[in-house]
Amino acid sequence: MSAFATPQGTSRYRTRFQTQLADGHFRRAQGLWLSSIGIGTYLGEDDAPTDQAYAEAITRAVELGCNVIDTAINYRFQRSERSVGTALKTIFKTGKASRDEFLVATKGGFIPFEGHAPKDQEEMQGYFDSAFIRPGILLPEDIVAGCHSLKPRYLQNQLDQSLKNLGVDCIDIYYVHNPETQLSEIPRKEFYQRLLRAFELLEQNVSAGKIRSYGMATWNALRAASNASDYLSLVEMEELARTVGGIEHHFKFIQLPFNLAMPEAFAFHNQKRNDDRGTILKVAEDLGITVMASASLLQGQLSENLPAQMSQALGEGLAGDAQRAIQFTRSTPGISVALVGMSKPIHVEENLRLATVPPLPFEQYRRLFKEV
Ligand SMILES: NC(=O)c1ccc[n+]([C@@H]2O[C@H](COP(=O)([O-])OP(=O)(O)OC[C@H]3O[C@@H](n4cnc5c(N)ncnc54)[C@H](OP(=O)(O)O)[C@@H]3O)[C@@H](O)[C@H]2O)c1
Repeated sequence: MSAFATPQGTSRYRTRFQTQLADGHFRRAQGLWLSSIGIGTYLGEDDAPTDQAYAEAITRAVELGCNVIDTAINYRFQRSERSVGTALKTIFKTGKASRDEFLVATKGGFIPFEGHAPKDQEEMQGYFDSAFIRPGILLPEDIVAGCHSLKPRYLQNQLDQSLKNLGVDCIDIYYVHNPETQLSEIPRKEFYQRLLRAFELLEQNVSAGKIRSYGMATWNALRAASNASDYLSLVEMEELARTVGGIEHHFKFIQLPFNLAMPEAFAFHNQKRNDDRGTILKVAEDLGITVMASASLLQGQLSENLPAQMSQALGEGLAGDAQRAIQFTRSTPGISVALVGMSKPIHVEENLRLATVPPLPFEQYRRLFKEV
């Protein structure tokens, strides 16, 4: 059995749901069949009940037709990755799915702490010293904005820790997490050098079989105006990947927020491309890079009180505003997966019912931009 998502495995998973779920729920990306709704693991308390809730939510999501799991080493101070690990053990033990049927993505860059937030500056410094400085993984000057590093030795340490936390032999996507954080302190030229070294390390990890592909998970970088200090050009990022990996490089995924209140990826022509500009979704498509949307519910805020006109335009037949907001994101041409944070199994049940409904036809989707 392969240690990662495969075309055959994800196709098998999709086939199991063929009679229950709507056409268009699974999409082809990088040769894999991925569900249009993925489960995210960012928010929530750093406590055992939330760990347990996430483990149950992830297990239930995989049972209901969601085969994309997104996490990051720093989410809930490594507890989210460990909850994914707990869920995977249950999924394998009970035979609900096999490893080649679903995709596991995680991220590195932010210093993660160990299980809980440090209670004060002294505890934080003690953690930095014992985990990274004394073992020679980081020098104090490698830490940017007090929380982030792209140093290859550090990223390797983090990637290996993620493999342990998740209990897997291989991670399907390893994202550099919010790299634009560094632009607040580092000159752009130096930043590109750091990213180049990070990509080089990630290509080595692909060769070593620890990851299948890599990418960038961002907040502002890819949807900001091109003159913003934290803007990043996807074309330039892909060039960096080509420099280290050649045309067969493995920089295959990006993540950025996209929801009813943050529609830039579809609507804003901010990305430089030759002599003109395109939306990030179009430029990513041209470059063969798959897009995952984060914060599909604007961190829960779009799960209620949507304006009536908007609800109507999204389909009144849907059961509630959370489904409507997710329907918007998953119906966007160019977005393969709408990630939704769900620590509660009841939210998984509600949101995955949407998988029985096809995404909006493009004409209906487009009217949202004209009429609402
Ligand atoms: N820069 C980055 O890399 C980045 C940034 C943000 C997010 N992400 C990824 O994208 C994922 C999704 O984003 P997000 O978690 O920040 O925000 P989100 O998906 O917009 O919202 C998650 C919140 O919505 C709640 N929710 C889910 N379904 C609901 C429903 N049916 N009714 C009411 N509330 C509901 C969740 O509650 P419960 O937890 O109680 O179920 C959670 O509090 C993250 O989990 C993470 O994996 C990446």
